[in-house]
Amino acid sequence: MSSRPSGPAAAPARLGEPLPAELLDAGERMTGEELRAHQLKHLRATLRHAYDHVELYRRKFDAAGVGPGDCRTLADLARFPFTTKADLRDTYPFGMFAVPMADVRRIHASSGTTGRPTVVGYTEHDLSVWADVVARSIRAAGGRPGHKVHIAYGYGLFTGGLGAHAGAERAGCTVIPASGGMTARQVQLIRDFGPEVVMVTPSYLLTLLDEFEKQGVDPRTTALQVGILGAEPWTEEMRRGIEERTGIHAVDIYGLSEVMGPGVAQECVETKDGLHIWEDHFYPEVVDPLTDEVLPDGDRGEIVFTSLTKEALPVIRYRTRDLTRLLPGTARPVFRRMEKVTGRSDDLIILRGVNVFPTQIEEILLRVPAVAPHFQLRLTRRGRLDHMTVRVEARPDAGPEQRAAAAAEIVGAVKDGVGVTVEVEVLDPYTLERSVGKIKRIADLREQGG
Ligand code: DLL
Repeated sequence: MSSRPSGPAAAPARLGEPLPAELLDAGERMTGEELRAHQLKHLRATLRHAYDHVELYRRKFDAAGVGPGDCRTLADLARFPFTTKADLRDTYPFGMFAVPMADVRRIHASSGTTGRPTVVGYTEHDLSVWADVVARSIRAAGGRPGHKVHIAYGYGLFTGGLGAHAGAERAGCTVIPASGGMTARQVQLIRDFGPEVVMVTPSYLLTLLDEFEKQGVDPRTTALQVGILGAEPWTEEMRRGIEERTGIHAVDIYGLSEVMGPGVAQECVETKDGLHIWEDHFYPEVVDPLTDEVLPDGDRGEIVFTSLTKEALPVIRYRTRDLTRLLPGTARPVFRRMEKVTGRSDDLIILRGVNVFPTQIEEILLRVPAVAPHFQLRLTRRGRLDHMTVRVEARPDAGPEQRAAAAAEIVGAVKDGVGVTVEVEVLDPYTLERSVGKIKRIADLREQGG
């Protein structure tokens, strides 16, 4: 990491440097025993609250033959039914709210790709807990009171912008609420205001970095020290690329609107080894997505969350469709970690019988020096066979020979590493549409006879 003049704000923790004890909050200081007692108490209360106030939960629990009183240990949670996005859609807009509307202070919604949006609500207490967990996430990432935090997650119904905003204020930071878009101006603000922390999707950060280049500015010369990146899957290769290009620490933040928003889990800057789940508020299980069975820690599957402290929208065993595994805590020993999410089951491409996630392609592309980290996967059908074309931009300095060699190298690496044959198009720089928020990696033209 490059050295910078020290400003009034404290420096972020360096790799391997723990958070000063006085900056740990009460939840982070719990012992394992205290945490489990806290979880069971709040789990039982949440099941009761959901059963008493949400008709859908009452119906589902009754149908499964379980009641709130049947949860005597944390393992008993496995007896309760799952909740899915479809449940929220079916009760659109407010059917799963567990408090009177007069007690709901804010509503968010995620657009989804089709149909009705998923609507979520927060009481004043919920908003306060959310600010606390995001503040905790910012400290874990290396942000400190007095830092300026540039927020380039979208503001609005998406939980990213406003969720990050309240957390940064709670952490004692100075917020720059940039939201998404107007890329040239964002770069100007980062240069002029000198934020130490940026919160943004990794794909939009790449868009910002291109803009730095366009303005002839080396991103390593800004005051930025930490990037808190999430809302979409990204790989270790992407982290390496971003850290090299910017000189900042790039750490992962995870969350989903149904469970809260950003700040369900966060990677600690001193270890960068997956995300600690803020288990005092969100109880995780990993299940086999096909058999629905709960898997032991360490096994890969779909992560499922039960909220422990939420009032407006308690969620019981919410199926995230995100694939990961649970690992023991490190930098925050009391909380388990989740491995970086490699993909959603929704993003799984099954190509002639082989499972492919966009992150597997990202990993390969980022190891090829002649191409830029901007890519799209185009799916088409020829006759009865599905085809995938990897469309990736060349780096500006890559000539025709290097591009051809890169294409051949990618075809070979995908065949060897993933086990499928793909076509590769190496495009001119700046030809693919740029992300301003969550990126869409897959263009599926199969149903259009493409
Ligand atoms: O994306 C909340 C968020 C905002 C998280 C800003 C982090 C930063 P939703 O729009 O409801 O909420 O989308 C949730 O995004 O189920 C994952 O599939 C994906 N996702 C979120 N964070 C990560 C991450 C926000 N760090 C969905 N890595 C989730 C991989 C992520 N995928």
